[in-house]
Amino acid sequence: MYVENVHLTEDGYAVEIIDQTLLPGEKRFLQCRTARECFEAISSLRVRGAPAIGIFAGYALYVLARQIPEEPADGFLPRLRELAAYLDGARPTAVNLHHALRRMVSLAEQNRFLARTELLAILRREAEAIQMEDAAMNRAISEYGLSLLRPGDGILTHCNAGPLATSEYGTALGPLLLGQERGYGFHVFADETRPLLQGARLTAYELLSAGVDVTLICDNMASIVMGQGRVKACLVGCDRIAANGDTANKIGTSGVAILAKHYGIPFYVLGPSTTIDLSTPTGREIVIEERDGREIAEKFFEIPQAPAGVKCFNPAFDVTPAELITAIITEKGIFRYPYQDRFAAVFG
Ligand code: MRU
Repeated sequence: MYVENVHLTEDGYAVEIIDQTLLPGEKRFLQCRTARECFEAISSLRVRGAPAIGIFAGYALYVLARQIPEEPADGFLPRLRELAAYLDGARPTAVNLHHALRRMVSLAEQNRFLARTELLAILRREAEAIQMEDAAMNRAISEYGLSLLRPGDGILTHCNAGPLATSEYGTALGPLLLGQERGYGFHVFADETRPLLQGARLTAYELLSAGVDVTLICDNMASIVMGQGRVKACLVGCDRIAANGDTANKIGTSGVAILAKHYGIPFYVLGPSTTIDLSTPTGREIVIEERDGREIAEKFFEIPQAPAGVKCFNPAFDVTPAELITAIITEKGIFRYPYQDRFAAVFG
């Protein structure tokens, strides 16, 4: 279940992605070479999903580092830091972006006395390592997640946390794709995920391509399918998990958690440790990205579906309080509420 959605071009001069804004209609690759192109790819969600953004950022910083003039030699690190800060501003909520850029810059700082070609080679290997580590984490998360499910279960998921958003199986979709390989026969309800339709465009596409039995629903239909007893578990991804377990994920996730609590259905968050941010104490401190209101009123419609000039509020994420999360599944195992102390012990 490997999707090469982010990779370096053979010559190493560009980072190439599948432009996710065109899916499912068209699978087109896009090459990003300049800082502006890389920034735009992240902010426009051409590359999206917290782990994929981190992987992209690692490669992008390598590509941009190659373009820093050789002279003056001591200009390299300040420029690299500047480029990292610029890319870091593309999206504020997913912490993987920040982690990956910080990791690349720290490595350059530690190796600042090396010759430029050696330093660049180290940065390239680090970017590749970020991707390979994510793939390994995906596999472990998928196994742990699958251990919580039974053959034939009905599962509800929100947004897209599959291979396109990561490097391999995905996080929330990982157990479903692994289960499909092992004949589990899950029935999946995919929330369409307004306003950018990651559930309809990407999750339905990925599950359908893998042969999983998937049914698309509008976000406001989650309650009826849960009430009808058709959902045995909810699986979602995450963009930033605070030290106490409060979790930011795609807008609408907290509503799914509240419904799951009401109907007595387990609500699982799946994500790699790169999404855990112990420097953020609780969900209150997580910065929520706010996007252009036209995404609600106009995008995907042939003509605008709201009166011109109406005010729109378009937060891209919300925070699910830790106490509503039955378990958080990482590559290091399954964590149950309360999260704070075990997170500090394992990830501190
Ligand atoms: O705005 P997006 O599409 O980048 O939001 C993505 C999500 O909220 C995902 O659930 C999350 O990043 C986890 S991806 C494994």
